[in-house]
Amino acid sequence: MVLQCLAPMLGGFQPHHPARDVKYHMKITMIGTGYVGLVSGACFADFGHDVVCVDKDAGKIAAIESGRMPIYEPGLDQLVGSNAAAGRLTFTTDVAAGVKGADAIFIAVGTPSRRGDGHADLSYVYAAAREIVEALDAPAVIVTKSTVPVGTGDEVERIARELRPDLDIQVVSNPEFLREGAAIGDFKRPDRVVVGTTGSERAIAVMSQIYRPLSLNQAPLMFTGRRTAELIKYAANAFLATKITFINEMADLCEAVGAQVQDVARGIGLDNRIGSKFLHAGPGYGGSCFPKDTLALVKTGQDYDTPVRIVETVVQVNDLRKRAMGRKIVKALGGDARGRTVALLGLTFKPNTDDMRDAPSIAIVQALEDAGAKVVAYDPEGMAVAAPMMPGVTMVGDAYEAAQGADALVLVTEWDIFRALDLKRLAASMAQKVLVDLRNIYPAAEAAEAGFALTRVGSQVA
Ligand code: UDX
Repeated sequence: MVLQCLAPMLGGFQPHHPARDVKYHMKITMIGTGYVGLVSGACFADFGHDVVCVDKDAGKIAAIESGRMPIYEPGLDQLVGSNAAAGRLTFTTDVAAGVKGADAIFIAVGTPSRRGDGHADLSYVYAAAREIVEALDAPAVIVTKSTVPVGTGDEVERIARELRPDLDIQVVSNPEFLREGAAIGDFKRPDRVVVGTTGSERAIAVMSQIYRPLSLNQAPLMFTGRRTAELIKYAANAFLATKITFINEMADLCEAVGAQVQDVARGIGLDNRIGSKFLHAGPGYGGSCFPKDTLALVKTGQDYDTPVRIVETVVQVNDLRKRAMGRKIVKALGGDARGRTVALLGLTFKPNTDDMRDAPSIAIVQALEDAGAKVVAYDPEGMAVAAPMMPGVTMVGDAYEAAQGADALVLVTEWDIFRALDLKRLAASMAQKVLVDLRNIYPAAEAAEAGFALTRVGSQVA
């Protein structure tokens, strides 16, 4: 298949003259009300488009309509509330009703790792595609927003042609690059918007109109081939995961040779070709995207007999690292954790989310419990989700309660609330003054003044 780069518009959005039958105000349907679907739907509505969000889960739809969000995402409840009140954002469980009259239907359903082989499970995407095309009453553009492996758009197109040969249905890839916790800002002020098409003028015009409001934010809208767009998403996440894993290995080396990883990160990051972002050493990456997407890219590489060996290694190194953090804590306790109490601050894979998927805390808890330690934990938003995943852990009400009588205090997730804790007060209530800072947020001098023996990532503390 020949891939074309269609009208690349880098360096600023350029208005696209709509085809005759394309309006400025768009009717958009969003299938799936998870992170991606709900944030994207609410943001499109905030731009003035008419948006219908569809989800099979009636309980979820009812909760959203009554103002309870299914996920914790800063600002989302307000954004949903104001746009729903203005009548631009509506919800339904009925796909057929939702797609009626839509200019574009976005598929934002889950693509979990398939059990056993690590491939992305596309059954929800294809099921949604079937339901959409069966319900369509006019030509429309179907957009895959979920992260889908190369070639998924081709299969959705095949489904559309097979079920509805009577209709002009265009299939487009428009991967999301949202970070949890910062998703609304990322959507409204993206570094770029990537749209992959097979060259249909109509699809290009519809997508240009949908993203026209972003021209105010100078967001580059990049058109490319559909398979290329699908791969861009995986390549971006794999590159970022590689960057994190690289600095994590440098951190280990720093500890061994007596260097400081934060200065190494700054020293290399000031080179514009490298860039300073995503060079924070820590307990390894987690979340709903990096672990799943790196694994899926590895599988795609293997399937096409073009192994992506760097990413294969990144996946392995990151998996091993999470458990190694447990051993680091045991070492800080003097090598024996039996009967000791370890207090964890933060459980989610990063701050400002309640997401526990592939969080390093899971492997850390496992390693500590295997070593005979008792674990207590506090997380501002993640405890309800975490509790059933780690039944042996005692969840408490705040950081000070966690530290009470503990033999080690471990900062796992760098929530703001943990950044300015009273270290002296914490130390005074502990059985042993051991502090393990897996995100390097506490100044060594302050920890020392509080009487803590401090362990960090990527530096030896005297
Ligand atoms: C990521 C991508 O950033 C986003 O573009 C994509 O759409 C989805 O995946 P997200 O998973 O929400 O977003 O989180 P992100 O902020 O990127 O962090 C991912 C993980 O990497 C976290 O576990 C975080 O703690 C870790 N990380 C990140 C580091 O350990 N060091 C860093 O320097 C940056």
